[in-house]
Amino acid sequence: MRLILLGPPGVGKGTQASAIVKKYNIPHISTGDIFRSNIKEGTELGKKAKEYMDKGLLVPDELVVSIVQDRLTKEDCVQGFLLDGFPRTINQAEALDKELTKMGIKLDKVVNIDADKEILIERAIGRRICKTCGSSYHIKFNPPKVENLCDIDNGELFQRDDDIEETVATRIEVYLNQTQPLIDYYKEKGIILNVDGTRPIDEVFETIVKALGDK
Ligand code: AP5
Ligand code: ZN
Repeated sequence: MRLILLGPPGVGKGTQASAIVKKYNIPHISTGDIFRSNIKEGTELGKKAKEYMDKGLLVPDELVVSIVQDRLTKEDCVQGFLLDGFPRTINQAEALDKELTKMGIKLDKVVNIDADKEILIERAIGRRICKTCGSSYHIKFNPPKVENLCDIDNGELFQRDDDIEETVATRIEVYLNQTQPLIDYYKEKGIILNVDGTRPIDEVFETIVKALGDK
């Protein structure tokens, strides 16, 4: 299964991605996660990406595309993959198409999750992430059993630097201007699957699995 998860910031892409990759046994390729781990390790890429991410802006295409191209040629992508947060511009989508054509493969579906701005802001601001394992929680919608501690490994939970209201609002604007046009791009290719992201986490997942099939 070769999938893209499309949708505005905070809609639940990462949450659904974790469940989808487990179900279909495919690697989860999140460009946001790749940048955050580079920031943590203090790499040159991380330093450059942080300048844009902290402002809620997109990292320039030339920094993103080559990372994904390299990742897709790794052995674990042979049986499929889930791209989460990539592509985010028409330019990125065209570069991906070229790469896939070169590899002789095609996308199966683009899962487009959507919700209203108020919901996105509430979800992003309330998100908390485990310092140890990266699991994602929400203070209201998906709280850990013990406040501020991860259920899996007791790791401390933290808030992402770009999850403050002002930056979330910028990220939503950037999404509307630069990423939303991709919905039509993939609609024309006949592979878009629209999913109502306002439903609870389990229901959103059920809808996706029903549409993608059980295997
Ligand atoms: P990225 O990491 O991709 O962030 P994003 O797209 O803004 O998405 P989020 O991670 O904020 O949200 P999500 O949809 O994954 O929601 P989640 O499941 O966590 O990108 C960050 C930055 O990196 C960008 O701003 C940009 O600078 C850069 N970048 C990355 N890729 C790039 C690219 N290709 N090109 C250029 N720049 C790039 O859920 C959010 C919260 O809601 C959680 O707390 C969760 O528990 C809760 N929740 C989830 N689903 C539900 C539900 N159904 N009901 C109730 N609560 C829910
Ligand atoms: Zn944890």
